[in-house]
Amino acid sequence: MPLPKAELHLHIEGTLEPELAFTLAARNGVELPFKDTEELRRAYLFEDLQSFLDLYYGLMAVLHTVRDFHDLADAYLARAAEQGVRHAEIFFDPQAHTARGVPIGTVIEGLGRALDASEERHGISTRLIMCFLRDESAESALATLESAKPYLNRITAVGLDSAEVGHPPSKFREVYEAAGALGLRKVAHAGEEGPPSYIHEALDVLGVERIDHGLRCVEDQELVARLVRERVPLTLCPLSNVRLRAIDTLEDHPLREMMDAGLLCTVNSDDPAYFGGYVGDTFHAVREALGLDEERLRELARNSFEASFLDDDEERRAGLLAEVAAYDFATELPE
Ligand code: ADE
Ligand code: ZN
Repeated sequence: MPLPKAELHLHIEGTLEPELAFTLAARNGVELPFKDTEELRRAYLFEDLQSFLDLYYGLMAVLHTVRDFHDLADAYLARAAEQGVRHAEIFFDPQAHTARGVPIGTVIEGLGRALDASEERHGISTRLIMCFLRDESAESALATLESAKPYLNRITAVGLDSAEVGHPPSKFREVYEAAGALGLRKVAHAGEEGPPSYIHEALDVLGVERIDHGLRCVEDQELVARLVRERVPLTLCPLSNVRLRAIDTLEDHPLREMMDAGLLCTVNSDDPAYFGGYVGDTFHAVREALGLDEERLRELARNSFEASFLDDDEERRAGLLAEVAAYDFATELPE
């Protein structure tokens, strides 16, 4: 039995495996600029965040119908369940779809159907986080929030993603204020490629409760002290950091030092179809590369539930935390 864990940093569009991309392309009559899945996989060599985003947005051309979004989310949940995920807080990028003429209602309806069935089908409770694309305008983010109003019962939080450098959190002050007034929780990507000052801004200007990535906080010791003091969770994505060249190798990842410093770290997969592994694979990889012992892995699993938006279901959170506390690593399946 795998270690029970929550996944808090997962872009549903980043779970689009090459096989499903080709299935959906055939279903929707979309021609992909790749001969087959192998040629597509060979394109997964990235220089930086932008070079990944170009492929990631391009491949979304295969997603059209309620059924497509359902199938995408259901495939992710099935794989996540195999790797011990018991709770998932899932990002989606509505603007990447509405810009192609796919209505936001189609996206949310499709994802929502898969999420509604998830607890029974896969044993995974879920929350949905709507992200604004930070390289689009603040007005576009506001229009996106407006268009999501009929579906707010399905959305727990707002987030901020896409190309970071040059698009500081403060650009989105107004839409975060409006989202807060609607009762939505707040997270934002910050400090993935952008400077530590973006992390300060996400906290001070947007009022976020978690920082997605936050990797570059290690460059600012006062910021680290603040994140520790205020118990701000970081949703780290080590495999993503290597693939997008934020760090050279997994052995260089500062996760262990960050945990030693008292930061509330979680480990996540970001875009698993592109970065070489789902969250269980990620736990395994950091364990090997950084020599994390069982208690460190247990701490990461505990953190994932503590940092989750399960505040409206404390009974489930307590049950999952008890499972983590009682987990016997001897029951883990061998590789
Ligand atoms: N969208 C999907 N993955 C992302 C990442 N790693 N950073 C920013 N935006 C993203
Ligand atoms: Zn991300």
